[in-house]
Amino acid sequence: MSEIVLGVSGGIASYKAAELLRLFTESGHSVRVVPTEASLHFVGSATWEALSGKPVQTGVFEHVDEVAHVRIGRSADLVLVAPATANILAKAANGLADDLLTTTLLTARCPVMFAPAMHTEMWDHAATRANVETLRTRGHVVLEPAVGRLTGADTGKGRLPAPAQIYAAAVQLLEGRTHDLTGRHVVISAGGTREFLDPVRYLGNRSSGRQGYALAEAAVSRGARVTLVSANVTLPDPAGVDLVRVVSTGHLRQEVLAASADADAVVMAAAPAHFRPIDVVDTKIKKTLDGTAPEIRLVENPDILAELVAARASKKPVIVGFAAETGDARASVIEHARAKLARKGCDLLVVNDVSDGKVFGHDDNEAVLLGADGTIEEFPFGPKSDLAHLVWDAVVHRMD
Ligand code: CTP
Repeated sequence: MSEIVLGVSGGIASYKAAELLRLFTESGHSVRVVPTEASLHFVGSATWEALSGKPVQTGVFEHVDEVAHVRIGRSADLVLVAPATANILAKAANGLADDLLTTTLLTARCPVMFAPAMHTEMWDHAATRANVETLRTRGHVVLEPAVGRLTGADTGKGRLPAPAQIYAAAVQLLEGRTHDLTGRHVVISAGGTREFLDPVRYLGNRSSGRQGYALAEAAVSRGARVTLVSANVTLPDPAGVDLVRVVSTGHLRQEVLAASADADAVVMAAAPAHFRPIDVVDTKIKKTLDGTAPEIRLVENPDILAELVAARASKKPVIVGFAAETGDARASVIEHARAKLARKGCDLLVVNDVSDGKVFGHDDNEAVLLGADGTIEEFPFGPKSDLAHLVWDAVVHRMD
């Protein structure tokens, strides 16, 4: 059980901190809520006291004998400010100490995380950018806000990430996992593409998108800005990612190449169809009276992974491919995979043995990570989320 200080600053999203608080308390952590005075306009002390089971104060002049500002900061295992307004980021960056939350931030010696929420203009302002940079340089974690509906009718970057996502990131920090993807942009493709023959039929494959989605969630929890290019996946949208939906390989190629222009890493976890029909008809193909099967002529799709490799000028972005392989009379799974890695020219290849179809649609995976530098790392059967972290460990190692 950890001692968590949940700082709540004055934004409309402060009501979401109540759900965050519950996620911590229900998993056995002890939470002390330290709201700012302004935040009480949105959610009152009674809510925090009832949900945390602890008294709440905003200033340093109540219960002075307890010297709360020093005690709370010193005993915390994590200080998390959610939502963090532009104002609290500015105060923290400059070391101001005019209430209990800001003094706690100065006395804390544990990891500190901010989950900002504000209007896009405020997030983009040079002053906020500089404050975020200062806090990150100091070793604090500042999550990227999510993109979506803001307070009014407007939408943009600045939404508080979903409580479950903030919770997941906080747990990673408590477990000592570093935010080694902070400030990085990563692009992940997931799912299987479809190539239509007519308005109702298509050529597709069995990819569920689970491994790609696990990679996206892991990257968010490590602080990355994530673009997830998703092909026909029916899983719930992961929080805090820029989600781009595509159908065909052509569409996937277009979106991956566009998003990769400023990327630090690209992970091609999707299964693009290798071929597409030459002729796509806009009316449904009918059965013939004499039972002759229609002839479907195919043309090869562009290889996106190979294009990404060819397009990069230096070692940025780090490029990761996936290979679903089966061994045969000619070579083993690893031998085929080594040849594929050399052919594609990417930095890492995540190899799945799909001889008996075992990885499709499950939450677990078994893989081998091959590096272009000759490294080989085995991932024994385990959750796709664990494999995702192993892939990011290997990617981070190859950045810069
Ligand atoms: N890939 C791609 N573009 C394609 C086909 C595949 O970028 N048109 C990517 C996949 O996302 C994966 C990697 O290439 O990361 C390996 O794909 P795979 O189909 O296993 O390999 P290929 O060498 O393309 O084909 P084969 O299975 O015939 O060896």
